Amino acid sequence: MKVVGLCGSLRRDSYNGALLREAVAVAPPGLDVQIVSIHDIPLFNEDVESAGFPASVASLRALCGASDAILIATPEYNSSMPGVLKNTVDWLSRAPAAPLSGKFGGVIGASQGMLGTSRSQVHLRQVLSFLNVSVMNKPEVLVARAQDKFDAALKLTDEATRKALTKYMVAWSEWLQRMMRP
Ligand code: FNR
Repeated sequence: MKVVGLCGSLRRDSYNGALLREAVAVAPPGLDVQIVSIHDIPLFNEDVESAGFPASVASLRALCGASDAILIATPEYNSSMPGVLKNTVDWLSRAPAAPLSGKFGGVIGASQGMLGTSRSQVHLRQVLSFLNVSVMNKPEVLVARAQDKFDAALKLTDEATRKALTKYMVAWSEWLQRMMRP
């Protein structure tokens, strides 16, 4: 199964980037996850869109279109997803052939607060549902106090979090297989 992995943070030492890499590391065989950076995605502007999708957008749209699923690791900014992530999703929502429509999704997240991106994930799931993306509801990965769970080299040091992430990736893989069965 082909999966595009997106991190909703542009920060160099992003915990969500680290979480996404750890998710790939514990993913069962059969999940081919390609992590794609959203650094080069410009601000959405219908005038720019009318002139043709910028190269970074066209490339991400093509990758998503050729994939079965999308796995997003989102931070939480002011109780929602970061603007850069919503901006990327907006580009991916556009016709012709909205590349995420009918695809399957996974949402995970890490924050430095106590709620571990719960509010951000609710918003992201709502937006993805409008884009006709089916997201697995449970189990969930909500990493609270991420600064206590990753070391300075951004390696996951918290065993309970690793266990939850592994459980998530196994469940997601099985769910994807069930959903994609002809
Ligand atoms: C935050 N942060 C934050 N944390 C949280 O748990 N709930 C929140 O609502 C917010 N709001 C918020 C707004 C803005 C503008 C920033 C910059 C940060 C803190 C956030 O969890 C922390 O910066 C994470 O480390 C961001 O994720 P990355 O960049 O490490 O992946």
